[in-house]
Amino acid sequence: MSRLWYDATMTLDQSQSAEDAPSSSRTASSEASSSITGRATDGTSRQRIAVLPGDGIGPEVTTEAVKVIDAAADRFGLALELVELPWNADHYLATGETLPDGALDDFRDNYSAIFIGAYGDPRVPDMKHAADILLGIRFGLDLFVNFRPIKLYHEGLCPLKDKGVDDVDMVVFRENTEGAYVGIGGNFKKGTADEVAVQEEMHTRKGVERIIRAAFEFAREKGRKTVTMCDKSNVMRYGHDLWLRCFEELSGEFPEIETQHLYVDALAMQMVRRPENFDVVVTNNMFGDILTDLGAALQGGLGVAASANVHPGRTSMFEPVHGSAPKYAGLGRANPVGAVLSAALLLDNIGHSEAAAAVEQAVATSLQRGETTRDLGGNLATTEVGDLLATAVRDTSAAASES
Ligand code: NAD
Ligand code: IPM
Ligand code: MN
Repeated sequence: MSRLWYDATMTLDQSQSAEDAPSSSRTASSEASSSITGRATDGTSRQRIAVLPGDGIGPEVTTEAVKVIDAAADRFGLALELVELPWNADHYLATGETLPDGALDDFRDNYSAIFIGAYGDPRVPDMKHAADILLGIRFGLDLFVNFRPIKLYHEGLCPLKDKGVDDVDMVVFRENTEGAYVGIGGNFKKGTADEVAVQEEMHTRKGVERIIRAAFEFAREKGRKTVTMCDKSNVMRYGHDLWLRCFEELSGEFPEIETQHLYVDALAMQMVRRPENFDVVVTNNMFGDILTDLGAALQGGLGVAASANVHPGRTSMFEPVHGSAPKYAGLGRANPVGAVLSAALLLDNIGHSEAAAAVEQAVATSLQRGETTRDLGGNLATTEVGDLLATAVRDTSAAASES
């Protein structure tokens, strides 16, 4: 299997190419449905995509991402079925339900991919629903690769002096099922002056090896020169030392790939000073979270950054890096580009690389022309950006989509 990132999930019958299907056979349904039972297959090669808009600006950016997916489905004749699921803070507060029983099995068995807008609501300060849904999907489907590209599409968007599009083009492989996110710990004498809080990191050899291997395989496949390992093994003498030993062992299997090792503090500094030194970066869950917000800033801001939560060959999940930005919710100001680029990663993952490339090209062109929301210096509304991206995807010429 040479094309790790482009393997379509095999939950559906792929014998009829979805690319060949007439666009009229596409069912792009945005009807709200809380059903998690039925199967996506109905004797055709339709691919079912679960859409979870979530909270805050999540629904707004999701609407635009869906618009662009619809345009790509029309232009490239993709047989997709989009199923919107209502699980968010409102739903949780009204019903007490977060991720329903059976949802993970349903995703695994009946869906090709999952798209998420964003989660987080000030009315749920403990993030209960977000933890159950977002982390529940990452952990429950064992989506161990959080793939986060950091790519500058126009030099005017970079806050760094004298850095251009050739300088900011890296991918972070964030471990997504272990580390500080496992929730191992507790409180003792909670709420008293003698309170003790313990929160453990967990790192397994299997978990560490598979993310490092994924980073190296991606570098090999894409002709990326260097893999940089990021940890804090000078202080985290057990957990992060395991990472360093695994990295050194595995690098021997990829002799053509150069390696670098940096402690996270130094790496954060170097990402700002010399972003051109980074190509593929592999790191633990928490450091990956933090470094990819920094990376988003190098691309122009959180509104641009995309991510894929992947277990190669299985139903995977796609979401912008940003959160629910509650203060912008409902104002029509949210930048939908991170969501749209995440939709491109989704299309690529389920086997539609041509459509994915057309979506990315539409985004690149709009950013180069300054056709943006206010966060990037433009004056367009969320829906206006979505409309122009959808139109650009529909208008993709045969020549452009082949190049
Ligand atoms: P955030 O990413 O929601 O927003 C931080 C700031 O970034 C915003 O105030 C805004 O200035 C800017 N921003 C983010 N997305 C933007 C967009 N699409 N367009 C324009 N500007 C954008 O981070 P936060 O304020 O720390 O968190 C808000 C909530 O979201 C919290 O509940 C947090 O836990 C949650 N969160 C969820 C996710 C996720 O669902 N994957 C990710 C991060 C944060
Ligand atoms: C992200 C977010 C999440 C994370 C939160 C909302 C749990 O910050 O996707 O980057 O920490 O992974
Ligand atoms: Mn984050």
